[in-house]
Amino acid sequence: MLIFNRQEDLKNHLKSVSDENTTIGFVPTMGALHQGHLSLIKNSLAKNKITVVSIFVNPTQFNNAEDLEKYPRTLEKDTEKIETVNKDVLIFAPSVEDIYEGNTVSASFNFDGLENQMEGEHRPGHFDGVGTIVKRLFKIVNPTNAYFGEKDFQQLQIVRKMVEKHDLPVNVIGCPIFREENGLAMSSRNERLSAQEKEDASLIYKTLKTAKEKFGTNSAKDIIKYVEAIFEKNPEFQLEYFQIADEDELLPATAKKEDKKYRAFIAVFINSIRLIDNISLN
Ligand code: PAJ
Repeated sequence: MLIFNRQEDLKNHLKSVSDENTTIGFVPTMGALHQGHLSLIKNSLAKNKITVVSIFVNPTQFNNAEDLEKYPRTLEKDTEKIETVNKDVLIFAPSVEDIYEGNTVSASFNFDGLENQMEGEHRPGHFDGVGTIVKRLFKIVNPTNAYFGEKDFQQLQIVRKMVEKHDLPVNVIGCPIFREENGLAMSSRNERLSAQEKEDASLIYKTLKTAKEKFGTNSAKDIIKYVEAIFEKNPEFQLEYFQIADEDELLPATAKKEDKKYRAFIAVFINSIRLIDNISLN
């Protein structure tokens, strides 16, 4: 397994093993890998000659110092997991210094308003941090195809917008959400949940599925009220937001229009752990 800790080394290696016709697939991650991440890696392996996985806990996208500090860092285990899928994957695990060169600040992006909704509203600066790191990583890896999960659907749309606005030469590919058997969306943050909390957290997907059933017959406003009432009845949860929005602009839906695609989005704390999820309503 080849692991690169410095961008210069990865760039030199890629130069030596590829030419302009070589397809490079790229899967950016923050590590603590689970089956959801591995599904992205498998998608990349199926379509590209070379697959690069980055493992980098990006400080500029955390708006909460404790969350950054507590974020699991498990490089050795991550490497083993990737190895079970394929030994030829190239791992890029740089230091903060190598990426930010002593200047850990975000650039400022305009994502045509996508950045002001939901996650953007509740995590100020988060998408500037995501834009900053993804743009830097794209520049280092120069991928043909880059794989992002629909688990972070707003992030996926923001990366697509960045690629379009900055004319970056990469195809962005969205991949479906991988779930635990009980429906809980896989997430690195799930590692911090107790067995009981994991079980309780199945309520999130159950509620999203009910919202999907109701969409079309009930108004968005009524579905929101219904979801808020469910979480109020379950005091171990603290609902941050539940929103029904169209997929392109991520604006709150008022009425269902036939030519648009919609999703329901949720962010909820279970004790102090913040979980997000979403579901397609079409
Ligand atoms: P991270 O949370 O590690 O996620 C890496 C990629 O895996 C993202 O594209 C995310 O949407 C995807 N992913 C996570 N859980 C998933 C699941 N259950 N099913 C399918 N895909 C899933 O997202 C980030 O890291 C960072 O913001 C990053 C893009 C790496 C920039 O720092």
